[in-house]
This record gives sequence, C-alpha cells and structure tokens, in this order.
Amino acid sequence: MAENQKPLIAPSLLSSDFADLKSELKKLQTADMLHLDIMDNHFVPNLTFGFPVIEAIRAKTKIDLDAHLMVDAPEDYIDELAKIGVEYISFHLEATVHSHRLLAKIRSLKIKAGIAINPGTAVSLLEPLLAEADFVLLMSVNPGFGGQSFLPLVYDKLAYLAPYKPKYGFQIQVDGGVCATNARQLVDAGVDILVAGSFVFRGDYSQNMDILRG
Ligand code: DX5
Ligand code: ZN
Repeated sequence: MAENQKPLIAPSLLSSDFADLKSELKKLQTADMLHLDIMDNHFVPNLTFGFPVIEAIRAKTKIDLDAHLMVDAPEDYIDELAKIGVEYISFHLEATVHSHRLLAKIRSLKIKAGIAINPGTAVSLLEPLLAEADFVLLMSVNPGFGGQSFLPLVYDKLAYLAPYKPKYGFQIQVDGGVCATNARQLVDAGVDILVAGSFVFRGDYSQNMDILRG
C-alpha cells in the first residue's frame, strides 16, 4: 500500500456480544466494513452464525458486509449471501477444488471476490487465481477462533504477493491477531484491509480502529 494511505478496518463480529448485536453495531459506525466469520464446524472446529443472523445485521447497517466463509463446499453459500446483499465474499482455497470458477461466479454477482489461505498453505498457489480475485485474505492465525496470537509467517507471504498488486489490482486482507503492534508493519508490507476482533472489541471501539489506521 502506498505510503500515508490508510488501511480499511474490518472489525470481526466474532468478538462481539451476540446477545446484543444492535448496540455492538452502533459502536462500529466508523468501521470501513464489517467482517462476518461464517464457520460450519467441518472446515474449522467451530460453529458461528448463518443466513438469518446476517440478514438481521444487513437490515441494521449500511456498512459494507464482508463474509469470510470458513466452510466446506463454499459454493453452496453464494446465492443466499448475494440475496441478502453482502458486498464482499471470501472462501478458502483449501475448501474447494473449483476456486477459479467460484471467484468468477462471485464476481458475476457484482460482489467483491476474495480467496483465503490458511497459515500452512503456500502463497504461490494463489498465482493462477490473482486475475480473478478482487482481494486475497491471508490468515495470520489458524482459522476457527478469535483471540489467538499473530503468526509472523504472514510477512513472507506478503513479500511474495505484494509485487503482483500493480499488475492485477487486487487488495490484500490480513486476518488474525492484528493489533496496535503489528498494524503499521502489515500496512507497510502491502496490506489494504486489516481484520481485527479482540483488539477492537474492548473499551472505545472507534478509538481502537483509529489506532489500527495509524
Ligand atoms: C478467525 C477469524 C478471525 C478472528 C479475528 O478464524 O477468521 O476473523 O475473528 O479475531 P482476532 O483479531 O481476535 O484474532
Ligand atoms: Zn475472519
């Protein structure tokens, strides 16, 4: 990302109070997008929320919704998410053998299409997909839970990926363990969108997001 350019901040609702989403959304009005962690208890060992909850969130906010599918068979979720009206959808390379086709399908629905990889997946596998992706999501924790420690191995992946940005025009999103101490370095390494859960959802959410913007 160019110098002095601010990253987009995407708070992860996984760290929110699910019993009081209405007030949580009020405290997130300065967010650039809202990150929705959709887990199926198969692709990851945790289960979060599905379409009815996303629909309820959609009805309460105009902020862009960013659906992060941590599910097997992500193909099965796209039409419903499009109907609800999310702006971004990412799915995992490890979860489907038809990544290229699925990116094209998401784009055909006028939704920003993202491809995500786990910490243990080689970033070079993304190269044939970059022309079809609006964004790449690099996981900096193993997916499934909030509040885990940031894995610095993501920096090597950023060093590989960032030089492809001018050619293809995709954005880079990093998700997991993002906080005040690594935000600047991530942005300098080419990250456009910072996802953060536990760092944002304590004290003054708006101030925490500003800290990440730097
Ligand atoms: C992990 C999720 C993340 C997570 C981030 O599986 O994809 O979005 O909620 O939470 P923190 O910032 O607490 O690591
Ligand atoms: Zn996520």
